[in-house]
Amino acid sequence: MAKKPRMVRVMLVGLGSVGTGFLRILQRKQQELSDRYGLAFRITAAADSRGLAVDADGLEPAALVALKEAGRGVDTLDAFLPGAAAADLLGQAPCDLVVEAAPFNLQSGEPGLSVAKAALSNGIHAVLADKGPLVLAYAQLAAAARRSGAALAFSATVCGPLPVINCGRRDFVAAEITRFRGVLNATTNFILASLEQGKSYRQALQEAQAAGAAEADPRLDVEGWDTAAKLVIVANSVLQTPATLEDVAVRGIADLDAGDLEAHRKQAKTLKLLAVAEKAANGYRLRVAPAALPADDFLAACNGWEMGVTFDSDLYGPMYFKTWEREPGPTAAAVLRDAVNIFRRV
Ligand SMILES: NC(=O)c1ccc[n+]([C@@H]2O[C@H](COP(=O)([O-])OP(=O)(O)OC[C@H]3O[C@@H](n4cnc5c(N)ncnc54)[C@H](OP(=O)(O)O)[C@@H]3O)[C@@H](O)[C@H]2O)c1
Repeated sequence: MAKKPRMVRVMLVGLGSVGTGFLRILQRKQQELSDRYGLAFRITAAADSRGLAVDADGLEPAALVALKEAGRGVDTLDAFLPGAAAADLLGQAPCDLVVEAAPFNLQSGEPGLSVAKAALSNGIHAVLADKGPLVLAYAQLAAAARRSGAALAFSATVCGPLPVINCGRRDFVAAEITRFRGVLNATTNFILASLEQGKSYRQALQEAQAAGAAEADPRLDVEGWDTAAKLVIVANSVLQTPATLEDVAVRGIADLDAGDLEAHRKQAKTLKLLAVAEKAANGYRLRVAPAALPADDFLAACNGWEMGVTFDSDLYGPMYFKTWEREPGPTAAAVLRDAVNIFRRV
């Protein structure tokens, strides 16, 4: 007789593109998750901007997706708990895993930061799609995870499905990474491609926003802060060098126009918004800035909605990864990947 799958009780915080994408994959892959990993994920709590609903018997993923598609909030569910906040309930809620996919907030990290802290300090595993808590409090969260023995996973935060975080932490055993470079923001890469086609900056930004890929506040993308946030996460987790945004020299693409792109094109170069971490005598030098790359550079060929990274190390030689992401499905899959990787081990 087939073994019953292990049930994982999930609190899902954030029911937007990523959160509902995660729910859709859970529905679609329920059988594979059971057959291949022996796991069954049950959503026992869900939070959006209207509050929190908790049901130990499980909230149906399809019903939650339908609720959000209808423009409604968890406050319309029978399981709604008026006045309850996800972070406050984590010690008592029926929950083995928190999936945090709330809005990216570089000022306070909230609401994700409180949720992540509460989960990890209560020994509840956490998977984050939201960069904010990691950028502002990486060391604190990692220490809380170490103390409680809970896992902290966040591969979706740096280019969604692209193998950066998990691969970077796992697959450079005994190596010194001498240089990391990345085209880490698809929105700016799309805008640069549009400028290259002669479109105005304004038109290019509007098209990126219409595609739904830009951060809610586009300044995070075009001024380089989203890229810098990802670089900070890579620095802390992969390069194991404590860093904050203040350690990154940041210049975005907001002051570029079609003429800049054309001038570089005439010299057979392509402008990319590049994140770089370069090994120095004491730690890494971190910067984000437009860079003119020769055509044969791997990252010069990251076009439009593509994102890519390169790693140089003393042991493994140069490594290159690239992905194409225009909608959040692959990011939601990266959240699931982290969740499965936690529970297939414990
Ligand atoms: N979209 C991507 O491709 C992508 C890729 C990598 C990482 N990320 C990160 O993943 C996170 C989610 O992105 P998204 O595209 O899914 O965003 P989104 O579509 O804007 O959804 C955000 C969700 O968070 C909810 N929310 C707002 N305030 C909340 C609060 N105080 N407590 C709990 N939930 C709250 C919103 O509620 P309502 O539904 O009521 O508005 C919404 O359901 C962000 O941090 C983003 O930077 C996104």
